[in-house]
Amino acid sequence: MNNRYLPLMKLDFSAKLLEWNSKYNHREMPWKGEKDPYRIWLSEIILQQTRVEQGWNYYLKFINTFPSVQDLATAPESEVFKLWEGLGYYSRCRNLIATAKLIHEKFNDVFPSTYETILGLKGIGPYTAAAIASFAFELPYPVVDGNVLRVLARVYGMDKPVDSSEGRRLLNELANKLLDKKSPAIYNQAIMDFGAMVCKPKAPLCSSCIMKKDCVAYNKGLVGSLPLKEKKINRKTRWFYYYIIRYKSGIYIKERQENDIWRHLHEFLLVEKTKKMNEKEVTMNPEIKLFLDKYSAQITNVSGEYMQQLTHQTIRGQFIELACQKPPVVNGQFRKIDYKDLTKYAFPKFITIYLLEKNVNLSQL
Ligand code: ADE
Repeated sequence: MNNRYLPLMKLDFSAKLLEWNSKYNHREMPWKGEKDPYRIWLSEIILQQTRVEQGWNYYLKFINTFPSVQDLATAPESEVFKLWEGLGYYSRCRNLIATAKLIHEKFNDVFPSTYETILGLKGIGPYTAAAIASFAFELPYPVVDGNVLRVLARVYGMDKPVDSSEGRRLLNELANKLLDKKSPAIYNQAIMDFGAMVCKPKAPLCSSCIMKKDCVAYNKGLVGSLPLKEKKINRKTRWFYYYIIRYKSGIYIKERQENDIWRHLHEFLLVEKTKKMNEKEVTMNPEIKLFLDKYSAQITNVSGEYMQQLTHQTIRGQFIELACQKPPVVNGQFRKIDYKDLTKYAFPKFITIYLLEKNVNLSQL
Protein backbone atom coordinates (compact mmCIF):
# COMPACT_ATOMS: atom_id res chain seq x y z
CA MET A 1 0.00 0.00 0.00
CA ASN A 2 1.05 3.54 -0.63
CA ASN A 3 2.85 5.24 2.26
CA ARG A 4 3.51 8.86 1.45
CA TYR A 5 5.82 9.29 4.43
CA LEU A 6 8.35 6.84 3.08
CA PRO A 7 10.28 8.80 0.45
CA LEU A 8 11.06 11.60 2.89
CA MET A 9 14.73 11.54 3.98
CA LYS A 10 14.74 7.77 4.28
CA LEU A 11 18.48 7.35 4.56
CA ASP A 12 19.15 10.53 6.44
CA PHE A 13 17.00 9.65 9.42
CA SER A 14 18.84 6.45 10.31
CA ALA A 15 22.27 7.92 9.65
CA LYS A 16 21.51 10.99 11.77
CA LEU A 17 20.07 8.91 14.55
CA LEU A 18 23.18 6.73 14.67
CA GLU A 19 25.38 9.80 14.59
CA TRP A 20 23.48 11.29 17.53
CA ASN A 21 23.82 7.96 19.29
CA SER A 22 27.57 7.68 18.94
CA LYS A 23 28.31 11.33 19.67
CA TYR A 24 25.76 12.45 22.23
CA ASN A 25 23.92 9.52 23.74
CA HIS A 26 25.35 9.05 27.23
CA ARG A 27 22.29 7.36 28.67
CA GLU A 28 23.25 4.40 30.83
CA MET A 29 20.89 1.67 31.99
CA PRO A 30 21.71 -1.73 33.49
CA TRP A 31 20.15 -3.70 30.60
CA LYS A 32 21.71 -1.60 27.83
CA GLY A 33 23.96 -3.62 25.54
CA GLU A 34 22.83 -6.82 27.30
CA LYS A 35 22.92 -9.91 25.05
CA ASP A 36 21.36 -12.53 27.34
CA PRO A 37 17.77 -12.96 26.06
CA TYR A 38 16.52 -13.90 29.55
CA ARG A 39 17.77 -10.63 31.03
CA ILE A 40 16.50 -8.62 28.08
CA TRP A 41 13.10 -10.25 28.40
CA LEU A 42 12.99 -9.44 32.14
CA SER A 43 13.90 -5.81 31.52
CA GLU A 44 11.34 -5.41 28.74
CA ILE A 45 8.50 -6.95 30.75
CA ILE A 46 9.34 -4.68 33.69
CA LEU A 47 9.48 -1.64 31.40
CA GLN A 48 6.20 -2.41 29.59
CA GLN A 49 4.16 -0.16 31.86
CA THR A 50 6.82 1.24 34.13
CA ARG A 51 9.16 4.21 33.87
CA VAL A 52 12.87 3.47 33.50
CA GLU A 53 13.76 5.05 36.88
CA GLN A 54 11.18 2.94 38.68
CA GLY A 55 12.01 -0.28 36.82
CA TRP A 56 15.77 0.02 37.31
CA ASN A 57 15.98 -1.45 40.85
CA TYR A 58 13.33 -4.06 40.20
CA TYR A 59 15.40 -5.31 37.28
CA LEU A 60 18.51 -5.54 39.49
CA LYS A 61 16.55 -7.30 42.25
CA PHE A 62 15.16 -9.83 39.75
CA ILE A 63 18.46 -10.72 38.10
CA ASN A 64 20.14 -11.01 41.50
CA THR A 65 17.41 -13.19 42.98
CA PHE A 66 16.80 -15.21 39.81
CA PRO A 67 20.02 -15.19 37.74
CA SER A 68 18.62 -17.69 35.22
CA VAL A 69 15.28 -18.60 33.72
CA GLN A 70 15.50 -21.87 35.62
CA ASP A 71 15.79 -20.01 38.94
CA LEU A 72 12.69 -17.98 38.09
CA ALA A 73 10.71 -20.99 36.84
CA THR A 74 11.34 -23.08 39.94
CA ALA A 75 10.91 -20.35 42.57
CA PRO A 76 7.74 -20.34 44.72
CA GLU A 77 5.24 -18.09 42.93
CA SER A 78 4.60 -16.11 46.12
CA GLU A 79 8.31 -15.14 46.17
CA VAL A 80 8.09 -13.81 42.61
CA PHE A 81 4.93 -11.83 43.43
CA LYS A 82 6.57 -10.42 46.53
CA LEU A 83 9.53 -9.20 44.46
CA TRP A 84 7.12 -7.65 41.94
CA GLU A 85 5.17 -5.84 44.68
CA GLY A 86 4.76 -2.13 43.91
CA LEU A 87 5.23 -2.44 40.15
CA GLY A 88 1.52 -2.82 39.37
CA TYR A 89 -0.10 -4.46 36.35
CA TYR A 90 0.28 -7.88 37.91
CA SER A 91 -0.76 -9.77 34.77
CA ARG A 92 2.84 -9.07 33.71
CA CYS A 93 4.07 -11.03 36.73
CA ARG A 94 1.67 -13.92 36.09
CA ASN A 95 2.79 -14.10 32.45
CA LEU A 96 6.42 -13.88 33.51
CA ILE A 97 6.00 -16.95 35.71
CA ALA A 98 4.04 -18.87 33.03
CA THR A 99 6.63 -18.11 30.34
CA ALA A 100 9.60 -18.98 32.59
CA LYS A 101 7.96 -22.34 33.39
CA LEU A 102 7.32 -23.01 29.69
CA ILE A 103 10.93 -22.25 28.74
CA HIS A 104 12.14 -24.41 31.61
CA GLU A 105 9.86 -27.35 30.85
CA LYS A 106 9.49 -27.27 27.06
CA PHE A 107 12.63 -25.53 25.80
CA ASN A 108 15.18 -26.97 28.22
CA ASP A 109 15.92 -23.53 29.72
CA VAL A 110 17.01 -22.19 26.31
CA PHE A 111 15.30 -18.93 25.37
CA PRO A 112 13.77 -19.18 21.85
CA SER A 113 15.72 -17.35 19.16
CA THR A 114 13.21 -16.70 16.37
CA TYR A 115 10.85 -13.74 16.26
CA GLU A 116 7.75 -15.91 15.73
CA THR A 117 8.50 -18.22 18.66
CA ILE A 118 9.29 -15.27 20.94
CA LEU A 119 6.05 -13.57 19.86
CA GLY A 120 4.14 -16.74 20.76
CA LEU A 121 5.17 -16.52 24.44
CA LYS A 122 2.68 -15.29 27.02
CA GLY A 123 2.95 -11.58 27.80
CA ILE A 124 4.98 -10.81 24.69
CA GLY A 125 3.51 -8.62 21.95
CA PRO A 126 5.14 -7.30 18.76
CA TYR A 127 7.08 -4.59 20.60
CA THR A 128 8.66 -6.90 23.19
CA ALA A 129 9.33 -9.62 20.60
CA ALA A 130 11.15 -7.09 18.39
CA ALA A 131 13.18 -5.83 21.37
CA ILE A 132 14.32 -9.33 22.39
CA ALA A 133 14.91 -10.51 18.80
CA SER A 134 16.99 -7.46 17.91
CA PHE A 135 18.89 -6.93 21.19
CA ALA A 136 19.76 -10.58 21.82
CA PHE A 137 19.92 -12.06 18.31
CA GLU A 138 20.50 -9.04 15.98
CA LEU A 139 17.33 -9.92 14.06
CA PRO A 140 15.99 -7.06 11.87
CA TYR A 141 12.76 -6.15 13.69
CA PRO A 142 12.08 -2.50 14.58
CA VAL A 143 10.71 -1.64 18.01
CA VAL A 144 7.66 0.61 17.96
CA ASP A 145 6.88 1.81 21.47
CA GLY A 146 5.56 5.14 22.72
CA ASN A 147 8.96 6.80 22.29
CA VAL A 148 9.41 5.57 18.75
CA LEU A 149 5.96 6.51 17.52
CA ARG A 150 6.36 10.00 18.94
CA VAL A 151 9.71 10.48 17.17
CA LEU A 152 8.39 9.19 13.84
CA ALA A 153 5.05 11.02 14.07
CA ARG A 154 6.87 14.30 14.66
CA VAL A 155 9.77 13.95 12.23
CA TYR A 156 7.47 12.74 9.45
CA GLY A 157 4.50 14.94 10.39
CA MET A 158 1.99 12.07 10.63
CA ASP A 159 -1.51 13.45 10.20
CA LYS A 160 -3.17 10.12 11.07
CA PRO A 161 -3.81 9.24 14.73
CA VAL A 162 -1.11 6.84 15.90
CA ASP A 163 -3.73 4.71 17.67
CA SER A 164 -5.87 4.25 14.53
CA SER A 165 -5.39 1.14 12.40
CA GLU A 166 -4.27 3.27 9.45
CA GLY A 167 -1.82 5.21 11.65
CA ARG A 168 -0.39 2.01 13.12
CA ARG A 169 0.04 0.46 9.67
CA LEU A 170 1.85 3.53 8.32
CA LEU A 171 4.11 3.73 11.36
CA ASN A 172 5.04 0.05 11.26
CA GLU A 173 5.85 0.30 7.58
CA LEU A 174 7.93 3.40 8.15
CA ALA A 175 9.73 1.87 11.13
CA ASN A 176 10.56 -1.21 9.05
CA LYS A 177 12.01 0.87 6.25
CA LEU A 178 14.07 3.08 8.56
CA LEU A 179 15.60 0.30 10.65
CA ASP A 180 19.32 -0.16 10.13
CA LYS A 181 19.22 -3.86 9.22
CA LYS A 182 22.96 -4.24 9.80
CA SER A 183 22.82 -3.16 13.43
CA PRO A 184 19.24 -3.49 14.67
CA ALA A 185 20.24 -3.69 18.34
CA ILE A 186 22.08 -0.37 18.34
CA TYR A 187 19.50 1.31 16.10
CA ASN A 188 16.53 0.18 18.24
CA GLN A 189 18.13 1.27 21.50
CA ALA A 190 19.17 4.57 19.90
CA ILE A 191 15.68 5.51 18.72
CA MET A 192 14.18 4.73 22.15
CA ASP A 193 16.86 6.77 23.88
CA PHE A 194 16.38 9.61 21.40
CA GLY A 195 12.64 9.65 22.17
CA ALA A 196 13.27 9.59 25.91
CA MET A 197 16.03 12.22 25.99
CA VAL A 198 15.57 14.59 23.04
CA CYS A 199 12.17 14.14 21.42
CA LYS A 200 10.48 14.05 24.84
CA PRO A 201 6.69 14.22 25.30
CA LYS A 202 6.96 17.55 27.10
CA ALA A 203 9.62 20.21 26.54
CA PRO A 204 11.51 18.40 23.76
CA LEU A 205 15.01 19.70 23.01
CA CYS A 206 14.17 20.94 19.51
CA SER A 207 16.61 23.80 19.28
CA SER A 208 19.64 21.52 19.64
CA CYS A 209 18.09 18.54 17.81
CA ILE A 210 20.06 16.89 15.05
CA MET A 211 16.81 16.32 13.07
CA LYS A 212 15.46 19.84 13.26
CA LYS A 213 16.21 20.82 9.66
CA ASP A 214 14.11 17.93 8.36
CA CYS A 215 11.55 17.55 11.15
CA VAL A 216 8.08 18.29 9.76
CA ALA A 217 6.57 18.98 13.18
CA TYR A 218 9.34 21.43 14.08
CA ASN A 219 9.16 23.28 10.78
CA LYS A 220 5.36 23.51 10.81
CA GLY A 221 5.02 24.34 14.51
CA LEU A 222 3.28 21.03 15.26
CA VAL A 223 5.61 19.61 17.92
CA GLY A 224 3.11 20.20 20.72
CA SER A 225 0.20 18.61 18.85
CA LEU A 226 1.92 15.48 17.49
CA PRO A 227 1.49 12.56 17.81
CA LEU A 228 -2.27 12.70 17.19
CA LYS A 229 -4.43 10.33 19.23
CA GLU A 230 -8.06 9.48 18.55
CA LYS A 231 -9.04 7.69 21.74
CA LYS A 232 -9.53 9.35 25.06
CA ILE A 233 -9.32 7.08 28.06
CA ASN A 234 -12.63 6.88 29.89
CA ARG A 235 -11.93 5.86 33.46
CA LYS A 236 -14.56 4.53 35.82
CA THR A 237 -14.29 5.02 39.56
CA ARG A 238 -14.65 2.12 42.00
CA TRP A 239 -14.98 2.67 45.73
CA PHE A 240 -13.08 0.13 47.86
CA TYR A 241 -13.78 0.05 51.58
CA TYR A 242 -11.35 -2.23 53.34
CA TYR A 243 -12.32 -3.54 56.77
CA ILE A 244 -9.29 -4.66 58.71
CA ILE A 245 -10.66 -7.31 61.03
CA ARG A 246 -8.46 -8.01 64.03
CA TYR A 247 -8.63 -10.29 67.00
CA LYS A 248 -5.76 -9.83 69.44
CA SER A 249 -2.62 -9.89 67.27
CA GLY A 250 -4.40 -11.76 64.44
CA ILE A 251 -5.46 -10.07 61.26
CA TYR A 252 -7.62 -11.50 58.46
CA ILE A 253 -6.45 -11.41 54.85
CA LYS A 254 -7.31 -13.25 51.65
CA GLU A 255 -5.83 -13.69 48.21
CA ARG A 256 -7.79 -12.08 45.35
CA GLN A 257 -8.94 -14.79 42.95
CA GLU A 258 -11.44 -12.89 40.80
CA ASN A 259 -10.64 -12.24 37.17
CA ASP A 260 -10.23 -8.57 37.97
CA ILE A 261 -7.43 -6.27 39.01
CA TRP A 262 -4.84 -7.50 41.55
CA ARG A 263 -5.38 -11.26 41.09
CA HIS A 264 -3.11 -13.25 43.46
CA LEU A 265 -2.43 -10.22 45.62
CA HIS A 266 -3.77 -10.07 49.17
CA GLU A 267 -6.41 -7.84 50.70
CA PHE A 268 -8.62 -7.34 53.73
CA LEU A 269 -12.40 -7.72 53.88
CA LEU A 270 -13.60 -5.62 50.96
CA VAL A 271 -16.91 -3.84 50.55
CA GLU A 272 -17.01 -2.43 47.04
CA LYS A 273 -19.41 0.32 45.97
CA THR A 274 -19.99 2.30 42.81
CA LYS A 275 -20.57 5.45 44.86
CA LYS A 276 -18.85 7.06 47.82
CA MET A 277 -20.33 6.06 51.19
CA ASN A 278 -20.95 8.68 53.85
CA GLU A 279 -19.43 8.39 57.32
CA LYS A 280 -22.44 6.60 58.79
CA GLU A 281 -22.59 4.08 55.94
CA VAL A 282 -18.87 3.39 56.28
CA THR A 283 -19.17 2.46 59.96
CA MET A 284 -22.65 0.95 60.00
CA ASN A 285 -23.12 -0.97 56.76
CA PRO A 286 -24.79 -4.43 56.80
CA GLU A 287 -21.63 -6.25 55.75
CA ILE A 288 -19.85 -5.37 58.97
CA LYS A 289 -22.83 -5.25 61.33
CA LEU A 290 -22.18 -8.93 62.12
CA PHE A 291 -18.75 -8.10 63.49
CA LEU A 292 -20.07 -5.24 65.56
CA ASP A 293 -22.94 -7.29 67.02
CA LYS A 294 -21.72 -10.86 67.26
CA TYR A 295 -18.04 -10.33 68.03
CA SER A 296 -18.42 -7.04 69.95
CA ALA A 297 -16.07 -5.35 67.52
CA GLN A 298 -15.02 -1.79 68.06
CA ILE A 299 -14.07 0.54 65.27
CA THR A 300 -10.63 1.72 66.29
CA ASN A 301 -9.75 3.78 63.24
CA VAL A 302 -11.33 5.16 60.08
CA SER A 303 -8.75 6.41 57.59
CA GLY A 304 -8.96 9.35 55.27
CA GLU A 305 -9.53 8.78 51.58
CA TYR A 306 -6.97 6.92 49.45
CA MET A 307 -6.76 6.87 45.68
CA GLN A 308 -4.92 4.89 43.04
CA GLN A 309 -5.05 5.69 39.35
CA LEU A 310 -4.97 2.66 37.04
CA THR A 311 -5.06 2.86 33.27
CA HIS A 312 -8.78 2.24 32.87
CA GLN A 313 -10.13 2.82 36.34
CA THR A 314 -9.68 4.90 39.45
CA ILE A 315 -9.74 3.16 42.80
CA ARG A 316 -10.81 5.29 45.74
CA GLY A 317 -11.72 4.29 49.25
CA GLN A 318 -10.95 4.04 52.93
CA PHE A 319 -9.59 1.64 55.51
CA ILE A 320 -11.56 0.84 58.64
CA GLU A 321 -9.96 -1.03 61.53
CA LEU A 322 -12.16 -3.32 63.59
CA ALA A 323 -10.97 -4.88 66.85
CA CYS A 324 -13.08 -7.90 67.81
CA GLN A 325 -13.47 -8.81 71.47
CA LYS A 326 -14.41 -12.43 70.62
CA PRO A 327 -12.75 -14.66 68.01
CA PRO A 328 -14.62 -13.99 64.75
CA VAL A 329 -15.60 -16.47 62.08
CA VAL A 330 -14.73 -14.80 58.79
CA ASN A 331 -16.37 -16.40 55.77
CA GLY A 332 -14.76 -16.81 52.38
CA GLN A 333 -11.12 -17.67 51.79
CA PHE A 334 -9.80 -15.59 54.66
CA ARG A 335 -6.84 -16.70 56.68
CA LYS A 336 -5.75 -15.38 60.02
CA ILE A 337 -2.16 -14.22 60.17
CA ASP A 338 -0.17 -12.43 62.83
CA TYR A 339 0.13 -8.70 62.06
CA LYS A 340 3.92 -9.10 62.31
CA ASP A 341 3.76 -11.31 59.19
CA LEU A 342 1.92 -8.76 57.04
CA THR A 343 5.12 -7.87 55.22
CA LYS A 344 5.50 -11.45 53.99
CA TYR A 345 2.49 -11.13 51.69
CA ALA A 346 2.16 -9.19 48.45
CA PHE A 347 -0.51 -6.47 48.54
CA PRO A 348 -1.62 -3.97 45.89
CA LYS A 349 -0.09 -0.53 46.13
CA PHE A 350 -3.44 0.90 47.31
CA ILE A 351 -3.01 -1.18 50.48
CA THR A 352 0.77 -1.01 50.96
CA ILE A 353 0.65 2.79 51.01
CA TYR A 354 -1.89 2.60 53.79
CA LEU A 355 0.14 -0.02 55.67
CA LEU A 356 3.33 1.98 55.37
CA GLU A 357 1.64 5.05 56.79
CA LYS A 358 0.09 2.97 59.56
CA ASN A 359 3.16 0.92 60.32
CA VAL A 360 3.61 2.16 63.87
CA ASN A 361 -0.04 1.88 64.79
CA LEU A 362 -0.37 -1.58 63.29
CA SER A 363 2.52 -2.90 65.29
CA GLN A 364 1.05 -1.42 68.46
CA LEU A 365 -2.27 -3.21 68.17
N1 ADE B 1 11.67 0.96 27.44
C1 ADE B 1 11.47 -0.28 27.08
N2 ADE B 1 12.62 -0.88 26.72
C2 ADE B 1 13.59 0.02 26.88
C3 ADE B 1 14.96 -0.01 26.69
N3 ADE B 1 15.60 -1.09 26.26
N4 ADE B 1 15.62 1.12 26.94
C4 ADE B 1 14.95 2.20 27.37
N5 ADE B 1 13.67 2.29 27.57
C5 ADE B 1 12.98 1.20 27.34
